Amino acid sequence: MIPDAFTELYGIIGHPVRHSLSPAMHNAAFRSAGLNAVYLAFDVEDLAGALEGARALGVKGMSVTIPHKEAVMAHLDEVDETARRIGAVNTVVNRDNRLFGLNTDAVGAVRALEEALPVTEKRIVVLGAGGSARAVVAGLVSAGASVHVANRTVEKARTLASSWGASWSGLDAEALKGVSGDVLVNTTSVGMGPKPDAIPVPPEFVGRFQVVMDIVYAPLKTMLLAVAEEHGAATVNGLRMLLHQAVAQFESWTGKEAPKKVMEEALTEAVGRRKAEGCK
Ligand code: ATR
Repeated sequence: MIPDAFTELYGIIGHPVRHSLSPAMHNAAFRSAGLNAVYLAFDVEDLAGALEGARALGVKGMSVTIPHKEAVMAHLDEVDETARRIGAVNTVVNRDNRLFGLNTDAVGAVRALEEALPVTEKRIVVLGAGGSARAVVAGLVSAGASVHVANRTVEKARTLASSWGASWSGLDAEALKGVSGDVLVNTTSVGMGPKPDAIPVPPEFVGRFQVVMDIVYAPLKTMLLAVAEEHGAATVNGLRMLLHQAVAQFESWTGKEAPKKVMEEALTEAVGRRKAEGCK
């Protein structure tokens, strides 16, 4: 659909933002659903100005990414309770010019993992206690899982775990001695980008789990997932959470079921394009 005077505007705000795969997914979804809407990427440093502008322009919805997920809450009219507990908003919905914030990373993590197994009553070890871990733990606990948080800085693991009734520990071999479960989820940045051979836990530890999920998606098969495969575990890569949090965003913005298959294809294509560009 060619944009016209009725086209509704959506977008992502972040800094940096040019690497974002969200425009590919959401524009494909709008087109497929026959909606007269476009989704753009905005590299935003002045958050207050961007939010004021979005209100004035009647922007219909926004994705929010690093470094604005926490600070954006102060600029919204209402924040959903789970997002408030997580302390971060990744989605803004414009309802009659009132800006409402929520966090679809939590449900995105659960839906991604549920592609491999039902989460309820599973024992899940989450590696990391940063912003991503806060959303993942919230989602998993709300879905009925029993969670253990393991983090390099133990104090952060304790703070996160105790606010969700989870257990906690450090991340080194000694601290992980008595720790096991059904599922292992990595939310740390270990294994990402320039250090693809890094792994957040000792390889032997990975063999204790039947399903291993990594939220890192560059590279797609992290060292953690490669080791998990060697141990015969099922794996869930980082693109699955990215897809499912976007699916939940589309549903919050439009009230319609998201064309998930179309979004998945757009995501795969965008990742492939990026890889090809990287190889040039
Ligand atoms: P995000 O929003 O992506 O979660 P973050 O809030 O900066 O990012 O959190 C990064 C997480 O990765 C933290 O749990 C961090 O551990 P610390 O709390 O000890 O800093 C973890 N992390 C980053 N680099 C790490 C490394 N080399 N080894 C182990 N954990 C690491």
